[in-house]
Amino acid sequence: MRNTGIVGIESVGVVGLGTMGAGIAEVFARSGLGVVAVEVDDALVEAGRRRITASLDRAVDRGRLEAAERDAVLSRLTFTADRGRLASADLVIEAVPERLETKASLFDELDRICPPATILATNTSSLPVTQIAAATGRAGRVVGMHFFNPAPVMRLVEIVHTVLSDHDAVESVRDLAARCGKTPVVVTDRAGFVANALLFGYLNQAARMAETRHATTTDIDAAMTAACGLPMGPLSLMDLIGLDVCLEVLEVMYAETRDQRYAAAPLLRRLVMARQLGRKTGRGYYSYEDGAAEAVLSGGSQDPDEPHDVSAIRPTVTVAGMDDQLVADVTKSLTARFDLAADAAAADVVVHLPTAPRPGAVLELAPRADVGRSVADDIAASLQGDGRTVVVSKDRPGYIVEALLYPHLNDAARMVDDGYASRADVDTAMRLGCGYPTGPFEMLDAVGARVLVERLPDIALSMPSPAVAVSALLRDLARR
Ligand code: CAA
Repeated sequence: MRNTGIVGIESVGVVGLGTMGAGIAEVFARSGLGVVAVEVDDALVEAGRRRITASLDRAVDRGRLEAAERDAVLSRLTFTADRGRLASADLVIEAVPERLETKASLFDELDRICPPATILATNTSSLPVTQIAAATGRAGRVVGMHFFNPAPVMRLVEIVHTVLSDHDAVESVRDLAARCGKTPVVVTDRAGFVANALLFGYLNQAARMAETRHATTTDIDAAMTAACGLPMGPLSLMDLIGLDVCLEVLEVMYAETRDQRYAAAPLLRRLVMARQLGRKTGRGYYSYEDGAAEAVLSGGSQDPDEPHDVSAIRPTVTVAGMDDQLVADVTKSLTARFDLAADAAAADVVVHLPTAPRPGAVLELAPRADVGRSVADDIAASLQGDGRTVVVSKDRPGYIVEALLYPHLNDAARMVDDGYASRADVDTAMRLGCGYPTGPFEMLDAVGARVLVERLPDIALSMPSPAVAVSALLRDLARR
């Protein structure tokens, strides 16, 4: 990186006023900077203005912003469809759709509009910043500045430098992010950077779980929020991010890594084809049409129309988990109504206590192959209470929580091992970018690396892998 002296940024341009662009423009204007906010035509300019005004109004309604301050923020924003107005900005950031051709042609135009010292930043979440930079005559002054959704709330900004970046451009952008109250994490140019590279393998696995009726959408989300303290479950989060954005990020990640973990779940692709893109269109994994989020996908671990009379079956249960005291407590509460299985391997229903950052917060019920959903629901009802979250899952290695969490934590360990980011940066990125209560390495400490090493091989067996891998159902059948 060349060092040409830090530039203090006082005015910025934002191109694209969708969810992210509007949020970024709001962040800058609230930090006292003059902002030229640009869209392609007058209708989209107005939509952008409405988005930002609504967000500021909400802050006023909630008592977080004075009405006079909102007016001052709005007065710092210039809304226009004329890209020529960007010539006065010290930095221009774009948040246009995640297509390389779109971004490259925009940067080519910005290169002509803006003076040579202007820093050009991209909010891309996964495209190669190096390639975007190379489309300009000022590759040294092109950096990634990646905000998280909702931009006014999430404190992380990933600052991406390429092999071509000037040191002062990177430092100016880092300084700008800090002045806006954000925590910058500086990384090199690799698909997904820190947060998305870690997040999207996990989100995609959850999407596949929902699609394969491993568990219901609501149970997957409820299990992860309760067991790990996450602010949102993975499927709600995908709806917040936008399913089209999720698909774009996964396609880029898959193209760069060829890792099956990023091969987009087919249903995700179908939802995008159907323009069911999540919150922004009112429907994705959930429907938001009547205000409250309601799961759209049905399904669960068992065929819902299997007729079963619970009392006639008199199911046997077994309780599994690593915490002996919790297992004993749950077993005691079950034995009043159900028989304990003499041979745990032959139990009709497994009640599993995942080893997770919040032990005991979640009970996973896995009815084995011949037992119907109604049996699981009956047992679930008897276990509700004491603030526990009870969910129903297929009887597969890791059930829901461990199956999603352990590969996610393993990805974090691999990223640090690869030398891409430090443990502290990984933890900061996930805490401040995705609202995790603790970072992956802190979660790993809570769970224990040894537990992961023991369980991951089994969990991996039921994840997408080459066709020769033995199917989990086949293994089930062989056990009988
Ligand atoms: N704009 C501005 N402020 C917002 C907002 C928005 N869109 N959404 C929520 N807020 C504010 C609220 O006003 C509220 O502030 P106060 O407490 O001061 O009133 C605060 O955020 C909390 O909001 P709510 O009470 O409405 O809701 P919540 O407590 O459920 O929090 C959330 C909502 C902040 C979104 C939280 O659920 C969360 O942190 N979720 C995780 C989000 C995440 O992971 N984002 C990263 C996605 S990945 C990404 O963006 C990268 C990419 O490239 C795809």
